[in-house]
Amino acid sequence: MTDRQRELLKGDMQQVIGRLEREETSVEPYQQDYRRLLNNHGKMVRAALVLIFGRAQESDDARPFGPDSLLVTGAAAIEMLHLATLVHDDVLDGADVRRGQPTVHRIRGNKAAIYLGDLILSRYMEIMASIAPSTAFIREQAGTVCEIVGGELLQESGRGDLTVTRAYYERAIQGKTAALFRLACLTGVKLSASEPEEGLLAAASAFGEHLGMAFQIIDDIGDFDVVHDSGKPKLEDIQDRIYTLPVILGLESDPTFKQVLEADDPLKVLDYLQAHPDLIEGAKAQARSQVSQARQALSCAPMASPVAGLLDRLAAKLAAQA
Ligand code: FPP
Ligand code: MG
Repeated sequence: MTDRQRELLKGDMQQVIGRLEREETSVEPYQQDYRRLLNNHGKMVRAALVLIFGRAQESDDARPFGPDSLLVTGAAAIEMLHLATLVHDDVLDGADVRRGQPTVHRIRGNKAAIYLGDLILSRYMEIMASIAPSTAFIREQAGTVCEIVGGELLQESGRGDLTVTRAYYERAIQGKTAALFRLACLTGVKLSASEPEEGLLAAASAFGEHLGMAFQIIDDIGDFDVVHDSGKPKLEDIQDRIYTLPVILGLESDPTFKQVLEADDPLKVLDYLQAHPDLIEGAKAQARSQVSQARQALSCAPMASPVAGLLDRLAAKLAAQA
């Protein structure tokens, strides 16, 4: 990766923030809530993936993207889809804090949070429809939203089920998280070329999907990390009886762990995991394996090498958290 590539990405991300700030929801009561979300926008990994894959086939004389370019607009829209899912997710999870700040539903109540999420989701759809190069592109966007909701529904259906398997968990997180990472990568490729190479599409899809899987596994491990502040509530999944990878690994290896879970006491589960560090370690190993599969997907992709370097660095940063 070159310094030039890093500088370009930095500038492009600023353009995405600018585009998000110029967004008018047109419904006055929500402007303030939308702005509060933007002022605390996080790393915007999904928008970065759109931008980076948008440059996958560029030559050395790459220029910064303009404020109204397809890639900046598409990256902002993907980030809006992500924001909408988070606002809804915090209602569903009853989470009071995100990114270290009170959540929308905590400040404005559930109804306002649902409407705000709906409004942001609608704008995502409107913006994507306005820049879509084809109906297939729109179908893919809409189909991915279905996948995200499907992943959430799977998770909900498995709540409290002590027979939940690793395959079930993987299907749920593939839908709720990895599908959006995959969409971000594919959106970048598809907005940058009218007829992208098949090899690049396959690499973007596999990279996004594996990175997303790793991201969610690490997020789920983080739920049990009561020492480090992540700006989010802790022990939330176990409190909601959502059994994530460390718990599933425990169920696989020790039949008596079931009784600990049946006691329905998050602190007892935490004690068990702390007494069996191999379970968190096993989950981390799965996350690292997903990251290496993501990196593998890049190895023979037809893309500019500085861009591949940037993606590799992003994957390495994630692996360092596992
Ligand atoms: C975070 O999971 C949530 C998601 C990755 C997806 C949420 C999706 C929906 C609620 C679907 C419906 C919404 C729309 C707008 C289509 P988590 O709770 O495990 O992670 P967290 O720790 O970040 O809360
Ligand atoms: Mg949540």
